[in-house]
Amino acid sequence: MSFRHYWYIVAESRELGRDQVLARQVLDQRLACFRDAQGHAVVLRDRCLHRNAPLSGGSVRNGQLACPYHGWTYDGQGRVIAIPALGPELTQRHCLPPYTSLEQDGFVYVQLAQEAPAHIRPFTMPHFGEPGWMTLRLQNRFRADLADCVENFIDIPHTAFVHSRIFRSSAGEKISARVRRCDGQVHIVYSNERNNLGSYRWFLNPRGLAVSHTDSFHAPNVTSVEYRIGSKVFLITSQAVPVAESETLVYTDLTYRFGLFNRIAAPFVRRYGQRIIDQDLDILAAQAETIRRDGREFRDTPADHIHRLVDSLREAIARGEDPRTLPEQVREIEFYV
Ligand code: FES
Ligand SMILES: [Fe+2]
Repeated sequence: MSFRHYWYIVAESRELGRDQVLARQVLDQRLACFRDAQGHAVVLRDRCLHRNAPLSGGSVRNGQLACPYHGWTYDGQGRVIAIPALGPELTQRHCLPPYTSLEQDGFVYVQLAQEAPAHIRPFTMPHFGEPGWMTLRLQNRFRADLADCVENFIDIPHTAFVHSRIFRSSAGEKISARVRRCDGQVHIVYSNERNNLGSYRWFLNPRGLAVSHTDSFHAPNVTSVEYRIGSKVFLITSQAVPVAESETLVYTDLTYRFGLFNRIAAPFVRRYGQRIIDQDLDILAAQAETIRRDGREFRDTPADHIHRLVDSLREAIARGEDPRTLPEQVREIEFYV
């Protein structure tokens, strides 16, 4: 098992139009994405077989991608079906085999490794397109490595500082959580969170109901944050795409069910979500810069146990193991916010 065996988003489906080619990068691999004659997404290495010009600089017509340099033309199977310099007779056979790709929940995914185990599937985005649910989709490019990004997305203590007041305030509230690692995932169930919800508390929890809050990490790159307050549900699902060592492209779905307020809330939810992410972009870039300069040397509090378990799953993959084989581990933790 390696990171190349997993599925990564290369584009939102709506971004990949017909007769269009997109340049992407996943795990340092440069990719050219287009749609074939049937409209299926095709992902090729972004390097022409002829003289290695980037295919993403080319053009697509009728589902065929033409290289910008000498016009070698590729079909949806990566077969070279025209070589202008050879004239009408195509006497040579060349093929650039496409990566495995698929479309699901409005995303185009790629899998870089050939022969990946069948149990590895793209993460299912919760309630996408379901009646009664709204999904707002954000994209953000973090100047930080993937591990530090996912740590941030399910880290509570920073919220009172980085997102002071708009998300949480430092209130001296003691929070307990049950942290469980199993099946290649980490699940965190929080208890005794009630009022510390920042500036939108009047809307999210006007009656001060008990807040049900669970977070999870799904190796190697997905985090889910889930709030349930009465009949209101608010989910933040982030798929982090490892572009390069200190560049991570994050697709975030803000998914919610606010009943009659679904539509009217959309612009506020989007602005609120992006404002919080903007603050994380800044702190993570600053953290990455320090780590790049002086190295990585972390110390932990009980709240950081979550991140250790997340790291343990990613380290298993880095060692070539299946993260699902790590033994189940459960721990109760307590910390203050
Ligand atoms: S480099 Fe692509 S056709 Fe020559
Ligand atoms: Fe944050």
